[in-house]
Amino acid sequence: MTWHKIVIGDSRSMREVGDESVHLVVTSPPYPMIEMWDSFFSRVGCRSYDEMHEYLAEVWRECYRVLVNGGIACINIGDAARTVDGEFKIYPNHARVIEHCERIGFKTLPYILWKKPTTKPKYKGKGVFLGSGFLPPNAYVTLDCEFILVFRKDGLRRFKPRDSLRYASSFTKQERDSWFTQIWRDAGARQSLRGVERRAAAFPESIPYKLIRMFSIIGDTVLDPFLGTGTTTKVAMSLGRNSIGYEIDRSLLKTIKKKLGLRRFGPPGPNVEIIDRGEEAAFQRQP
Ligand SMILES: C[S@@+](CC[C@H](N)C(=O)[O-])C[C@H]1O[C@@H](n2cnc3c(N)ncnc32)[C@H](O)[C@@H]1O
Repeated sequence: MTWHKIVIGDSRSMREVGDESVHLVVTSPPYPMIEMWDSFFSRVGCRSYDEMHEYLAEVWRECYRVLVNGGIACINIGDAARTVDGEFKIYPNHARVIEHCERIGFKTLPYILWKKPTTKPKYKGKGVFLGSGFLPPNAYVTLDCEFILVFRKDGLRRFKPRDSLRYASSFTKQERDSWFTQIWRDAGARQSLRGVERRAAAFPESIPYKLIRMFSIIGDTVLDPFLGTGTTTKVAMSLGRNSIGYEIDRSLLKTIKKKLGLRRFGPPGPNVEIIDRGEEAAFQRQP
């Protein structure tokens, strides 16, 4: 039987997780300079783009500590574009995350571009293309891809010959051919979600499903330090992996329990532990 731990607390310190005890990280942080996360970053005291990435880097550092040698971290992030003092400006979040992770010691592996089918084209960073959008040269390419960055700690993971759990975790040729390619076009993306899931920018289950099948084996431990609504935990449970998730926003616990089919009150279930650190920092999202 697998085990699952949910910590309501700040993943900049993952003191509940031992060094080199996690095999895979699958996560999506708040995106710096994307409007929907402005109030979050200001509440945790980050005023500039640099400070927002310093905040995220503290979590990447903890991920590095808890990963086993050969463990993989998959980070879903999108770039941001906005007009500052009347000037269009791009914030290449994916590049900043790569820089920070490499400085920490991670090795960058080939990444995935997640093409968003529903994002509308923009003109000068605003709205959809208007009539003038047909005239060169002042329109911009639409940011309609997100990144799934893939990092490894140290060299390849080693297994004993014909390791039975590894073999039981294999993927089919068809799965391999469609997953190990750079462009993914997963539907069921955030735009179709409602309520809390939309506010927390949940990813569709197909994203952690593929990443967990690609980069871990049955019985491994998967960590999501930005758990949101609990999507990674839900998928890890269904795939025979153990899991640990951190979420700073206590108000998401109800949604997490619902998504995982846990009891609302009392003990959540035999193989699930919920730790609420009761930190002041675990703020409540504003309605
Ligand atoms: C993009 S959402 C994750 C959505 C998630 N993938 C899902 O499917 O629901 C990022 C989450 O990280 C949480 N968060 C931000 N900083 C955190 C921290 N230091 N520790 C734990 N959680 C954090 C936010 O409250 C937010 O719910």
